[in-house]
Amino acid sequence: MIDDGFLNVGDHDSFANGVPHKTFERLRRENPVSWTEPTDGMRGFWSVTRHADILAANGAPDVFSSAQGIRIEDQTHEEYLARRTFQETDPPEHRITRKMVNPAFSRPAMQKYESLVREMAAEVLDTALTHPEIDGVETIAKQLPMLMLGQILGLPRDDLDWLVEKGDALIGNSDPDFTDFVIDKIDSDAYRFMPFRSPAGADLYDYVDKILSGETKVSSEGVLARVLGSAEPGMSAADFKNFFCLLIAAGNDTTRYSIAMSLYRLARDPVLLDQLAATQCWETAADEFIRLASPTMHFRRTATCDAELGGQAIGKGDKVVLWFVSGSRDENVFDRPHDAVIDRSPNPNTAFGQGGPHFCLGMWLARMEIRIVLELLCQRVERLDMLEEPSWTRSNFICGVKRLPMRVHLRSGAA
Ligand code: HEM
Repeated sequence: MIDDGFLNVGDHDSFANGVPHKTFERLRRENPVSWTEPTDGMRGFWSVTRHADILAANGAPDVFSSAQGIRIEDQTHEEYLARRTFQETDPPEHRITRKMVNPAFSRPAMQKYESLVREMAAEVLDTALTHPEIDGVETIAKQLPMLMLGQILGLPRDDLDWLVEKGDALIGNSDPDFTDFVIDKIDSDAYRFMPFRSPAGADLYDYVDKILSGETKVSSEGVLARVLGSAEPGMSAADFKNFFCLLIAAGNDTTRYSIAMSLYRLARDPVLLDQLAATQCWETAADEFIRLASPTMHFRRTATCDAELGGQAIGKGDKVVLWFVSGSRDENVFDRPHDAVIDRSPNPNTAFGQGGPHFCLGMWLARMEIRIVLELLCQRVERLDMLEEPSWTRSNFICGVKRLPMRVHLRSGAA
C-alpha cells in the first residue's frame, strides 16, 4: 500500500512496505489522539502518536492500564488470564516479578557480558564477512541476539535456532514469511489461549514442560534456573511458561531489527559509515538506529476511568494504543526526525517504552549488542552497497527489515 498519509494503522497491510511515516506525521499534526473505527468484530481503539501524550499515558498506569491486554486485538478475560505475563499487569503487582528479574538484566549485570558479546559479535561478523555478498539480516542481525539471550537464560546452544524460529512465528504472527497461521487471515480461535494466538506458543509451552521436568537441562548460572530456584513466591508453572515465551519473543526480533536498521541506514547513506569510523560514537549511534527502528511499534493500554489525553475525551474501557514508533520521530522533540544523526544527544526516543513501569527489561542488553556490532563492523567494513530494496515485516506490531541483500567492501587488511 502507498502511504498517502491516510492509511489505516489498524491494518497490517498498511505496514507491508515499511512504517507509514507520512500517516503518523499527519496524525501527530492534525489528530494526535485519533479514533479507529471497529472492524470485523474488533473493537475500535485510540491511537496516541505524539511524544508528550505517549509519555503522559505511559506514566499513568492507574488510568491507562496494561492489565486488560497490551496488543490491539481484543481478548476475553479467560484468554487474558491464560496468556498474561507481568507485562500485562500494573503496579503494585507488576513490581513483584519485575523486581525478581531486574537484577539479571540490569546495567551492571550486562557489563559483565561485554567481553562475551564482543567475542560472539566478532565470530558472527567474521563468518558473515567471508562472503562478498550477504543477506545482512540472516547472516548478521539475526545471529547475535539469540546467542546472547541463550547464554543469559542458560539454554542449550543446539536449541537456539529452533527457538528463534518459534519466536519469529509468535511475534511475526501476521506475516506469511514467519507463520502458516497468519492471524488476520485464519480463524485462530483454536489458539486463543496460546501466546500471540499462535500454535508456536503451544510448541514453546511443550519446550518449557521439558525444562520443568528436567529433560532439557538449563545452566544453573542462567536466569531461568535462578527464577525457578527463587525463594520468593511468584511464578507458577503457567506464569513461567508465559514469561519464557515473552523473553523468546521480545529478546530476538527487536534487537535483530535494530541491527538490521543500522545496516540498512549505513548502506543507504555511505557517509554515515565514514562518520562513524571518524567519530567512533558507538553509543549515540546505537541509540539513534534504535530510535529509527523502534521495532515494537506500539503497546496497548485500557482506560480504567473516563480520562482526557491530548485534548481528547477517552471513555472508561476504551483501548488506547501508544505508538512508540511515532513518538520516536516526533518533530516537536527531534530535529531532522527521519535522518540518522549518529551523535544525537540527548535522544529521548520512546523505542523502549521509556517513562512507564514496563520500560524494556532488555534495554541494556540490546543497547550493548548494537553498540558492539557497530564498533566491530566499522573496524572491518569500509562500505556496504544495497543490492535490492529491503523487504519489511507485514505487521503493525513489529517493524523490521526481513531481508537485506548487500555487497560488502572490507577495509584493507580486514580480510
Ligand atoms: C532494541 C531492542 C528492544 C526494543 C526496541 C524493545 C522494546 C520494548 C518496549 C517498547 C517495551 C515496553 C512494553 C510496554 O510498554 O508494555 C519492552 C518491554 C519488555 N522487553 Fe524489550 N525491547 C528490546 C529488547 C529486549 C530484549 C533483548 C529483551 C530480553 C531480555 C526484552 C524483554 C522485554 C520484557 C521482558 C519487557 C516487559 C517488561 C515489563 O513489563 O516490565 N526486550 N521492550
